[in-house]
Amino acid sequence: MLWKELERIDPEIASAAKKELARQRDGLELIPSENFTYRAVLEAASTVFTNKYAEGYPGKRYYGGCEFVDVVESLAIERAKKLFGAEHVNVQPNSGSHANMEAYMALTDWLKKGDKILGMNIFHGGHLTHGHSVSFSGKLMKASSYGVSKDDFHLDYDEIRKIAEREKPTIIVSGASAYPWEIDFKAFREIADAVGAFHVADIAHIAGLVATKNHKDSVPYTDITTTTTHKTLRGPRGAIILSKKEHSEAVDKAVFPGCQGGPLEHIIAAKAVCFKIAMTGEFSQYQRQIVKNAKALASSLIENGIEPVGGGTENHLMLIDVTKIGLTGSQAEKLLGEVNITVNKNVIPYDQRKPFDPSGIRIGTPAITARGMGESEMKHIGSLISRLLKDPANTQAKIHVKNEVLEVSREFPLYEGI
Ligand SMILES: Cc1ncc(COP(=O)(O)O)c(C=O)c1O
Repeated sequence: MLWKELERIDPEIASAAKKELARQRDGLELIPSENFTYRAVLEAASTVFTNKYAEGYPGKRYYGGCEFVDVVESLAIERAKKLFGAEHVNVQPNSGSHANMEAYMALTDWLKKGDKILGMNIFHGGHLTHGHSVSFSGKLMKASSYGVSKDDFHLDYDEIRKIAEREKPTIIVSGASAYPWEIDFKAFREIADAVGAFHVADIAHIAGLVATKNHKDSVPYTDITTTTTHKTLRGPRGAIILSKKEHSEAVDKAVFPGCQGGPLEHIIAAKAVCFKIAMTGEFSQYQRQIVKNAKALASSLIENGIEPVGGGTENHLMLIDVTKIGLTGSQAEKLLGEVNITVNKNVIPYDQRKPFDPSGIRIGTPAITARGMGESEMKHIGSLISRLLKDPANTQAKIHVKNEVLEVSREFPLYEGI
């Protein structure tokens, strides 16, 4: 038992942590932005680097005693540069939202000139930080948005170009939180060049796929690419900024002292471990399997009468319009939660319902693939999901599905020995 001292000092927190571990073990985690990080990453994140202040950058710190954090941060930077083929990397952003703010600050000289942002509509799959009115991005910049086509739910690059020509944004953001198709970053670059805008790609969801060439690359086509490190990349909670060399100074200044203080060096150590693992053949194989599993899960749902929005997926996630089977997104999320399947309710493009109880759910395969599950388990899981959602009042069926979920989960143990 790893948490001995925690248990002695603070049994309430220890108990919650134990229950959370049991919850993760005894269920199917289908939230596409979540994952089970590696044991080595967890260990790095709990090292004594948490004790160290290290404002500044390797070799140029405002504190003494930084010789070992410098080793860690330099390794993280070099590994991330190699992994993504980036000219410059900042590994200090504490979250994806911070990374996006810092990227925009770096490119716009602190938003002094009434800058404009064009990003994907949150109701079509974009993220809050891509220009939504409740986020700093929509509050500090004049925001406009693009969406997906009503016909096939794909991005329409001709339409995006027209919007960009009309709006003349300072920054065009590509990338999404709920878009199941491949994104053409080169097309975004061409649009940005045509209107004299910077191109920022936020690859938070697909970073693992991009790093292993299971998705088109963004780095050659962007001024700045940002990503979280905890989704498909399967590292610790946090983010990094990958930039062209010409923006390196501005990026570093925007992160520190611009938007953040002392970097979380224990998390940077964990990021370094994640990047090392991400350069292995085993990680490439894991990423390939995430996509194969998502396609297998979509096929199984279709076979069982539940069609994902747009008919399937090309990446790690899909959206399901559950109103077609008489449910709302909240009801489906709750029902699945009752049988230990975790998903999140989500708006679907052109949703008629409100975000707090939308028409859809979003499901993805990074976490269940990390447990070692393959296509045969996806077939089974698809049939369990549809059995439950299509007959929610059937108590016997619910008990059966929950038992099956527990059985599959226990076949693929998680964090054994903790
Ligand atoms: C595309 C995208 N960018 C940024 C973020 C924000 O990341 P964080 O929660 O670390 O701030 C998310 C989170 O879901 C995301 O999906």
